[in-house]
Amino acid sequence: MVCCVVTTVVAAVVVLILTVKFIYHYQSGRCTSKTRLVGKTAIVTGASAGIGKETARDLAQRGARVILACRNVEKAERVAEDIKKTTGNTDVVVREVDTSDLTSVRKFAEDILRTETALHILVNNAGMSGMKKRKLTADGLEVTMATNHFGHFLLTNMLLDVTANSVHPGAVYTEIMWKGETNLIKSIFALLVWLMGKDEKLGAQTSIYLAVSEEVNNVTGKYYVDCKDTKVSAAAKDAGLAKKLWEASEQLVKLRPEERHY
Ligand SMILES: NC(=O)c1ccc[n+]([C@@H]2O[C@H](COP(=O)([O-])OP(=O)(O)OC[C@H]3O[C@@H](n4cnc5c(N)ncnc54)[C@H](OP(=O)(O)O)[C@@H]3O)[C@@H](O)[C@H]2O)c1
Repeated sequence: MVCCVVTTVVAAVVVLILTVKFIYHYQSGRCTSKTRLVGKTAIVTGASAGIGKETARDLAQRGARVILACRNVEKAERVAEDIKKTTGNTDVVVREVDTSDLTSVRKFAEDILRTETALHILVNNAGMSGMKKRKLTADGLEVTMATNHFGHFLLTNMLLDVTANSVHPGAVYTEIMWKGETNLIKSIFALLVWLMGKDEKLGAQTSIYLAVSEEVNNVTGKYYVDCKDTKVSAAAKDAGLAKKLWEASEQLVKLRPEERHY
């Protein structure tokens, strides 16, 4: 009797997991653009793993010159070799940058401005998840904000006069689930994402869509989920708050007038 109940519960849980996974994957956005990128140059930060790696692979597949902007050069070189092998595009290079370190970001951006003739696509993808304890970088910035926001804020200012949009990739099973400090809740979340979440290729679709689709060529200041323009929270629509964040970011990264390219 007990055995029968256990079997029924296990079967019900498996069916539930498979159903959620099927629905989540079925309704996930996919980039269907056939755009070729021959003659274009793209930078993907954090391309040594996960969503960034698959975004870089797709852009290389379309013929772009792809710069993998990564902190771990050795790891990134292995990814570059893999991308070259799987796409047949040999114009895939690695450049070192630590997005949590403003000196490193400045050095990287200056090197790009000096050596590249043009830059068409910048995918600000590098990121980490929250730390349990507050940790400061050499610049005195909180490390998660420095990695995910301030470094990319500076980089974008220095490199692009561009349209710019933001992305939520969904729940994607990548290395990020196990990086940094782990605890029981984080581990359970990682297990659920492993069971039901997107894989890296599916997680990269919205970044790829914004990088290549003609229909978003002139779109800027939007937030995309599953390749769709999506509503943002009231806080994100608050122009006063946005201005404050922009000005605080300019101050905290000590943005110089010559570093503004917009
Ligand atoms: N996975 C999800 O469910 C999810 C959900 C929402 C948002 N995101 C965002 O999606 C982006 C990609 O995440 P992922 O899931 O693909 O994670 P991932 O597999 O851990 O990849 C993160 C990438 O960022 C790089 N990186 C981290 N800190 C860096 C630093 N200081 N300087 C330079 N590169 C750094 C990592 O380099 P190493 O290889 O050297 O570690 C790696 O290449 C992140 O911005 C993340 O916040 C992910």
